[in-house]
Amino acid sequence: MLTPSSPSFCASSIIGTGSYMPEKVLTNEDLSKIVDTSDEWITTRTGIKERRIAADDQATSDLASEAARRAMTAAGVTAEEIDLIVIATVTPDMFFPSTACIVQRKIGATNAVCFDISAACSGFLYALQIARHFLNAGTRATALVIGAEKLSTLVNWQDRNTCVLFGDGAGAVVIRRAEETDVEAPGRVLSTVMGSDGNLVDLLKVPGGGSACPITPENALSRPNTIHMEGRETFKHAVTRMCQASEQALEMAGLSKEDIAMVIPHQANARIITAIAERLGLPPEKTFMNVDHYGNTSAATIPVALDEAHRQGAIKRGDIVLLVAFGGGFTWASSVLRW
Ligand code: UT7
Repeated sequence: MLTPSSPSFCASSIIGTGSYMPEKVLTNEDLSKIVDTSDEWITTRTGIKERRIAADDQATSDLASEAARRAMTAAGVTAEEIDLIVIATVTPDMFFPSTACIVQRKIGATNAVCFDISAACSGFLYALQIARHFLNAGTRATALVIGAEKLSTLVNWQDRNTCVLFGDGAGAVVIRRAEETDVEAPGRVLSTVMGSDGNLVDLLKVPGGGSACPITPENALSRPNTIHMEGRETFKHAVTRMCQASEQALEMAGLSKEDIAMVIPHQANARIITAIAERLGLPPEKTFMNVDHYGNTSAATIPVALDEAHRQGAIKRGDIVLLVAFGGGFTWASSVLRW
């Protein structure tokens, strides 16, 4: 089931990060006025205190474009230098064209090949690995990899089981092909593992709005085009798969848990993150968490957290950083970086 790549195969480095979170803050207190919930329940069960909600006139491509501009500024590259844009999202602006093509136009990356990928909350790490393969093959040199979501458009605001969990936001990285010999290049991706289990598609999904279940006047009221999740089952699989993937990615990089300076996990639930840290034997200070401020932004959580960890100085050049994600599909992935 796992399809690991050889660590020596791809030599590419993250040379800049950026993120953009919408201004509007929706607190637990605000939600308790919409559905039967409380700050106490949401905080103890999820660790989430607030999330960001995009404005009505902000599409996923707007969030993605701003994160991309910030990443390009950090990397010191121009839009013309970008020759590949891969966007991970489950909330594209529209079915087609891809959100990546829309972002291309917005940021003026006229030389880029652009497409979206769908792997839910694992999407950013899937996209990063896809982009690395393009770079390694020598057909592209400088890529923008973006995780961007406007999940507020997929939330059933009458369902307390899910509406308290999700938020909007975007994170981006610029990656560039590195010399095989330059093993000390900062931001280098050392290893990646990925996995999927399509037998479990029904545990976390948006069942309607696609070709299997188009929205009709008859089914619209039951809101099939919103997030449906078996929370407890998803929780268990998330912990198991993210621990396994972390260990495999470390092994592939020839490293051990003791080498980790920081884990940046998918931000779905503070209890999941704590459980992973405990199983990996890592103290809280080596586990990056911002789920309290943003909730679960699906494909955006890891690039946003990576950007914040870098800007806050929580990760430093040379640190071993472990990224790990889990999402609908089910899908999971982990990457080890030498920051
Ligand atoms: O990003 C992709 C991966 N996603 C995840 O990994 C999410 C995984 N799942 C979770 O994080 C957790 O399962 C949830 C946060 C979604 C739910 O937490 P839980 O501890 O598993 O609660 P539960 O679903 O078992 O529900 C416990 C109780 C239920 O009431 P009863 O049946 O015990 O009377 C729910 O109805 O809590 C109730 N409940 C709520 N109460 C107040 C569910 N949502 C709420 C709410 N406020 N918002």
